[in-house]
Amino acid sequence: MKTIIEPFRIKSVEPIRVTTKEERSKLIQEAGYNLFNLHSDDVMIDLLTDSGTSAMSAAQWSGIMQGDESYAGSPSFYRFERAVKDLMPFKHVIPTHQGRAAEKILFTVAAGQGSKVPSNTHFDTTRANVEMAGAEPVDLVIAEGKQPASEHPFKGNMDLEALDRLLAEERDRIPIVMLTITNNTGGGQPVSMENMRGVREICSRHKVPLFFDACRFAENAYLIKTREPGYADAPVPEIVREMFSYADGMTMSAKKDAFVNIGGWLALNDDDWAEQARNMLILTEGFPTYGGLAGRDLEAIAIGLQEIVDEDYLRYRMASMQYLGNALTRMGVPIVKPVGGHAVYIDARSLLPQIPPLSYPGQSLAVALYEEGGIRACEIGTVMFGKQSDGSEKAAPLDLVRLAVPRRVYTQSHIDYVIECVENLVTRKEELPGYKIDWQPRFLRHFTARFTQVR
Ligand code: F0G
Repeated sequence: MKTIIEPFRIKSVEPIRVTTKEERSKLIQEAGYNLFNLHSDDVMIDLLTDSGTSAMSAAQWSGIMQGDESYAGSPSFYRFERAVKDLMPFKHVIPTHQGRAAEKILFTVAAGQGSKVPSNTHFDTTRANVEMAGAEPVDLVIAEGKQPASEHPFKGNMDLEALDRLLAEERDRIPIVMLTITNNTGGGQPVSMENMRGVREICSRHKVPLFFDACRFAENAYLIKTREPGYADAPVPEIVREMFSYADGMTMSAKKDAFVNIGGWLALNDDDWAEQARNMLILTEGFPTYGGLAGRDLEAIAIGLQEIVDEDYLRYRMASMQYLGNALTRMGVPIVKPVGGHAVYIDARSLLPQIPPLSYPGQSLAVALYEEGGIRACEIGTVMFGKQSDGSEKAAPLDLVRLAVPRRVYTQSHIDYVIECVENLVTRKEELPGYKIDWQPRFLRHFTARFTQVR
């Protein structure tokens, strides 16, 4: 069959409030042209993030009723631990309230003042947590990973030579190596099994532990199955187990590839680090058999982990991302290629050449998408990364707009609607204005800055 259906039926629905263009123009102006300031019930299709926005299954909702809320030794914890270890057989599994809490604990334990933490590309919270620990994050993704038009199938790969060189020169300063799968900041791009093996070999040779930032591990595994020679016939759970056999530990945001609205964990083999991590956990999150979560959340994760490695689901997930990416490409909209696992990234700087980077082409496109169709996307460009630590401003390497697709939430007609909105915008793209910032906070300005239009 050419048509790949959503492999689920809908039992419970949430209404979408349909708004008019006039209403939306007023709402976004009142929000200071910042999409984070909108109330989400004023958004029709919310593609701001795929994190914590999944639809849970009937099995997960019934699992929630089985949640045991005992402070210590809850059976829900043991079910969660078994589900994690079934795919990622690490010795210690430590639940946290979300991914960044696991990162905070890991880097507090592992990385000290003056150390360096290499990765293919650190996600913003990972980067910030490395810096909070007094360490320096280093991004070593392959060159193709920085070129939006490159069709390399594994643009999340680590530059192995650069990693080896860095470790040869500065081993004493490097307590841990990270690998983000898939590479969110680089466009949701996967890492190949061959590259994971290569990173493992280098880390073993230099005796440095390797951790995965594994939020989207199942999407990465499916992209290995479909893009890497030798894996076409391997079941996804087996691919996942092989991936994690190359790591000494992982941080996880269960808000992505575990289909839950909150949750995460840190898993690792080292007894000494695990003990320190549990001590930190008790201070900041909670007792080690619940971490920052309720027993019911642990049940939902345990079930979500079984559902996410289902191949019918993953085939549909990747087909729906392709569908959106192909439609945009057909209408000449430049996107980051090839389409990654969880989002389509539009290259707004190329699409809107009349808007210079310091007038924020990504912000302009994101605002226009909201006005046009009530679609909320996320600027990943000069608004997010342009502010320098001395207060000055510089163009980010790229000005992208991320259309992140929540899991199991939107149907193909929602995506068709998104495609039609982009099509309408493209016909009048020369009219889109630039923006300037009227107010911004000291840090992480993209969340709260207020803008006005410049024409
Ligand atoms: N690592 C990666 C690769 C991520 O994409 C995220 C979150 C985190 C870590 C942190 O996890 O949110 O549970 O604390 N990414 C979300 C996004 C926020 O929209 O891409 P968290």
